[in-house]
Amino acid sequence: MGQTLTEKILSDHLVDGELETGEEIGIEIDQVLTQDTTGTLVWLQFEALELDEVQTEIAAQYCDHQTYQFDFKNTDDHRFLRSAAGTFGAHFSRPGNGICHNVHKENFAAPGKTLLGSDSHTPTPGGLGQLAIGAGGLDVAVAMGGGAYYIEMPEVVNVHLEGELPEWASAKDVALEMLRRLSVKGGVGKIFEYTGPGVENLTVPERTTITNLGTELGATTSIFPTDEKTEDYLARQGREDVYQELTPDEDAEYDDQLTIDLSDLEPLIAKPSMPDNVVPVREVAGTSVEQVMIGSCTNGGYEDILPSAKMLEGREVDKKTEMIIAPGSKQASEILARQGWTAELMAAGVNFSEATCGACIGIGHVPASDSVSLRTFNRNFEGRSGIEDDNVYLCSPEVATAAAIAGEIVDPRDLADELGDMEAPGVELPDKYDGAKTDLIAPDEAVDDDLVKGPNIGDVPLKDELEATLEGPALLKMEDNITTDHIIPATQDILMYRSNIPKLSEFTLSRVDDTFAQRSLDSDGGFLVAGENYGQGSSREHAALCPMFLGIQGVFAQSFARIHKANLFNFGLIPLTIDEETYEQFEQGDDIEIVDDVAEAVRSGQEEFTVRVNDDWEFTAHLDASEREREILADGGKLPHTKKKAEGGS
Ligand code: F3S
Repeated sequence: MGQTLTEKILSDHLVDGELETGEEIGIEIDQVLTQDTTGTLVWLQFEALELDEVQTEIAAQYCDHQTYQFDFKNTDDHRFLRSAAGTFGAHFSRPGNGICHNVHKENFAAPGKTLLGSDSHTPTPGGLGQLAIGAGGLDVAVAMGGGAYYIEMPEVVNVHLEGELPEWASAKDVALEMLRRLSVKGGVGKIFEYTGPGVENLTVPERTTITNLGTELGATTSIFPTDEKTEDYLARQGREDVYQELTPDEDAEYDDQLTIDLSDLEPLIAKPSMPDNVVPVREVAGTSVEQVMIGSCTNGGYEDILPSAKMLEGREVDKKTEMIIAPGSKQASEILARQGWTAELMAAGVNFSEATCGACIGIGHVPASDSVSLRTFNRNFEGRSGIEDDNVYLCSPEVATAAAIAGEIVDPRDLADELGDMEAPGVELPDKYDGAKTDLIAPDEAVDDDLVKGPNIGDVPLKDELEATLEGPALLKMEDNITTDHIIPATQDILMYRSNIPKLSEFTLSRVDDTFAQRSLDSDGGFLVAGENYGQGSSREHAALCPMFLGIQGVFAQSFARIHKANLFNFGLIPLTIDEETYEQFEQGDDIEIVDDVAEAVRSGQEEFTVRVNDDWEFTAHLDASEREREILADGGKLPHTKKKAEGGS
């Protein structure tokens, strides 16, 4: 039987396990990326692992999420990140140089290589045939030190593309069509592999828009084969040497398949406040629009902004609408400026932001209360724009620009008919992506050779090996569906302490009980008790690290969210499953003692644990863990486990 493209790349990088769906596999990582909100912890963990040099072919540290420097904390973080990149051998992209996924695509993405990134949209370079996966920071630190990345082998789903996009339909509409069909949960545990005759009708930037939005399906990643278009794109970036042809075998077998005929697509839009709330643009035409934003890692490229410039040539933005362009990278803004398009756009009434995530996470350009904002971004969750009563729609640059001209949502086909002289702009690549690379500092140009830690940068706390006896109070009993946002909120005023775990820990579970952090510190150990789906939401590893810092030893829950459970193992907290009856019987403050020799039981593969409560009643809790996860847990977490292995321990 032939292999899929995914299987080919995974086989080349497989260091542990077999490529059977659902089985745990270990893969070698060629490239890593981090950004500024997750990167500080990545480097602090890299340092704590006593690693002194990056082992992957490429490591890149970007500063893109919090580039505005409100006070010294972000600046301290940026300076620390530059010094860490210089000290350990990574590329450093200065604040304002662009969003990690855009800059990585331009400078490092390479067909057939594996990429692990501490950002959920890491799959973006899948549009160039790279197998790119998002992960927690500690997994990235370990991979950067040469360790394997472990994952359950996902299903591989074939998306067969036919036909050619009609005028005014775009790659964004392909991605929105996927979301319309499959929903935001439709890709969980899956890799989407695009094939078919429609692929050659899409440029690389269009392909990366589709792979970027695959994250919104919950997919592990998305990937395209490579072809002349890939080679041509790389040549225009001056990197044709990394090209290789990569296609699935003709007799490759997929776990599932779906077909999209590109010629059937029309301009689509995701209504507030979920990326899968997708309808044809005509269905919401006439909605008044106060703000239009073009940019983000999804549609912030030269190829996304140029159509907007062409549509606005000789025209103006409607007087009641504000239009902002936040380019995805400085390369894009520099080329547009050299070609004169920036001046044209400014003359039409457009304002420019620096190349940053910014508005995508509610930092800057917050819409007016209860107003409509049309954005070319990838997420429109309620409140993400920076205001709770937002109405954010997601669409292509063409649909966004049409709305800026009309002052209301309009299908660009209808606007073109009305204006009579507005051509469909199509997608055009520059002859050469010839922006300067001044803001990208290579390891051999590093300006620091030692770590620079300002007062906002703390150490990563370490945990000792798991003890034989685990006992302490149930410090907090929680309901179902506690999210990582409940555990550590991601607001600017809290997340600015992301590099200072003692300070950040003061906010742990404060949305549930604001006395929790202090009570935990006052208690000598303790446990959390929760209902179903504990730890759902983002992959934020602070949500396990901060409870660990406060002395929490384990969590009893009816069920756990997958990524958070992995993070609990990574930070040495035992995740034990209980039934509903036991959950109901528990009361906050109960004294808990795990009767077994916990360390021995975890190492030996024991699945059932006897737990005594208040010296009064007992119940059985379950540990569902792979052999690797048991070793990590018993060693006190992934950091001490990895150090022990490096030192030659068992
Ligand atoms: Fe940045 Fe938003 Fe993309 S936060 S990485 S532009 S999803």
